Amino acid sequence: MKQLVDKLYETGNLSPEEYKELIDNRNPEIAEYLFEKARNVRIENYGYDVYIRGLIEFTNYCRNDCFYCGIRKSNIKAERYRLTKEQILECCDTGYELGFRTFVLQGGEDEYFTDDKIVDIIRSIKVRYPDCAVTLSIGERSYESYKAFFDAGADRYLLRHETADYGHYRKLHPRSLSFENRMQCLFNLKEIGYQVGCGFMVGSPFQTTDCLVEDLLFIKKLNPHMVGIGPFIPHHATPFADKQAGTLELTLFLLGIIRLMLPDVLLPATTALGTIHPKGREMGILAGANVVMPNLSPKSVRKKYMLYDNKICTGDEAAECISCMRRRMESIGYRITVSRGDHKSIQQ
Ligand code: 5AD
Ligand code: FES
Repeated sequence: MKQLVDKLYETGNLSPEEYKELIDNRNPEIAEYLFEKARNVRIENYGYDVYIRGLIEFTNYCRNDCFYCGIRKSNIKAERYRLTKEQILECCDTGYELGFRTFVLQGGEDEYFTDDKIVDIIRSIKVRYPDCAVTLSIGERSYESYKAFFDAGADRYLLRHETADYGHYRKLHPRSLSFENRMQCLFNLKEIGYQVGCGFMVGSPFQTTDCLVEDLLFIKKLNPHMVGIGPFIPHHATPFADKQAGTLELTLFLLGIIRLMLPDVLLPATTALGTIHPKGREMGILAGANVVMPNLSPKSVRKKYMLYDNKICTGDEAAECISCMRRRMESIGYRITVSRGDHKSIQQ
């Protein structure tokens, strides 16, 4: 088993059979061996720096109905909200003061936010903060829309592929969503010139080791700048309410594998990871992650952006997110930096 970790470390790749063997036969000793290698690779590329992204959840309206997601359109109990451009800019003002140099505009697929509105928001942020990166995370749109956002100044785009296995994709989504279109979107984003992030949930219902192997092979093929993975966590008002959550242990193991596959990838220790374990994000960093995404949304809406149950950073403590995060990272010997935190391939 150690030889497989060594091979992954040396070549950045394994065969499908080897990935499967590594995942299925993992144990605490192998995991520690993997994490040590992953940390070394991460430190070679990014030192002890942890990049921060200010997450602005600007709408929870969504036209989609993904079976796992708490803001799916069939959840009529979700209290819907939209932020105005002014509110979004206020989030950026607060964030800039706190040292954020990347803002992530994340939302459901909300038709109210037409291309023109999104373009206007991107331009306004870029005029006010030309030294900041803007990341979009607003789902599937046409090539032309993506191009318009990029031309308006958007730098990065996050679109989790969710699963690279066609059959599995069908089990997580209603018929109205197409696997092919999602994949096409990711390749379009890359072609346009974005720094692109894909990703998936660990332990989502019906996921098998073969699905995970497909995910890893897809990630290798897409060669994204960012990969977002976190455990699946059930939401009580969805069809998957009674499904098991993904585990901390497998999520950490996959973070380690992804770090060795893509040595300079931007890899967040996600909020979902922090939700299933109080020290989940710290453990994520120690398994090879190098990004955290504290919430910058106004306090009044944070409880409404509930993708899954018990999401952290939504209560009274939320205003302290950044100082909390700084302490957390320092407690494990890492430091949050004030920088855009671009992928190494495009840093000056
Ligand atoms: N548990 C964990 N992650 C979820 N997401 C959506 N619903 C859940 C859930 N129940 C993730 C999806 C999506 C991202 C914004 O949040 O992967 O792409
Ligand atoms: Fe959000 Fe600690 S990081 S409260």
